[in-house]
Amino acid sequence: MEFNDIVQQRRSIRNFKPDPVAQETLDALLSQALESPSSSNSQPFKVAIAQGEIAKQIGAELTDKYWRSTEIQRKPLIQKLIGFLTSDSMPDSDFKPILGKYPGIFQKRRVATGMGLYEVLGIDRKDTKARDEHMAKNFHFFDAPVALFFFVDPRMTHTALVDLGIFMQSLMLGATNEGLGTCAMGALGIWRKPLDKHFNIPTEYKLVCGMALGYPTDAKVNQYRPEKISLQELIIPEA
Ligand SMILES: Cc1cc2nc3c(=O)[nH]c(=O)nc-3n(C[C@H](O)[C@H](O)[C@H](O)COP(=O)(O)O)c2cc1C
Repeated sequence: MEFNDIVQQRRSIRNFKPDPVAQETLDALLSQALESPSSSNSQPFKVAIAQGEIAKQIGAELTDKYWRSTEIQRKPLIQKLIGFLTSDSMPDSDFKPILGKYPGIFQKRRVATGMGLYEVLGIDRKDTKARDEHMAKNFHFFDAPVALFFFVDPRMTHTALVDLGIFMQSLMLGATNEGLGTCAMGALGIWRKPLDKHFNIPTEYKLVCGMALGYPTDAKVNQYRPEKISLQELIIPEA
């Protein structure tokens, strides 16, 4: 594909075919993404790849934590506090705090994007149950056959996150070029324990986020194209 077509075609995919991704394809995409630049070529990231039975188990464990924590969050204050203190379903993310509300303009953009997504999905914004059910799909990676979990070594400070972001984008563009779909997923950075159970993650590496990867279906949700900011909003004017 032409580079411009790849960039335009890459959109977050939230509905996948069950078809597996060939190991050679996955290896080739990861090798290609490793051609990305990184600070002094430090490449301070690692990836855990869940497929098949492991993906199913992790998906089930994360989904269970999601439903149990959601139930606690909806309880009256005292029960909520007790739940927070006693339940093993509370977030154990490596990077804290997990953003609840985004500051200022970012919350506006977030809400606009979320509302656009619910509209495409036919979910009324006041329908908490349907919204929860959509959210739950995040935790089994929208049924994608491959779930990737990204870690960085935080001793490399902010450069580690920049480097990981560039690597992830290379991977997403490469995947698009192969007819695959991806969705970068912060939701997959909320709980770490299920991953420690299934992977030997070096202790110094911290979970940042995940990514669903697989072949996209024709579902309407996959056509969603949220608005991007204008060049005017992007570029800082001269003083
Ligand atoms: C770091 C990161 C985390 C994200 N987390 C999620 C997520 O948890 N769930 C989800 O549905 N989309 C997630 N997204 C996808 C964004 O919502 C999406 O990129 C944004 O709305 C722009 O849409 P586009 O990717 O189709 O251009 C994430 C994207 C990034 C880069």
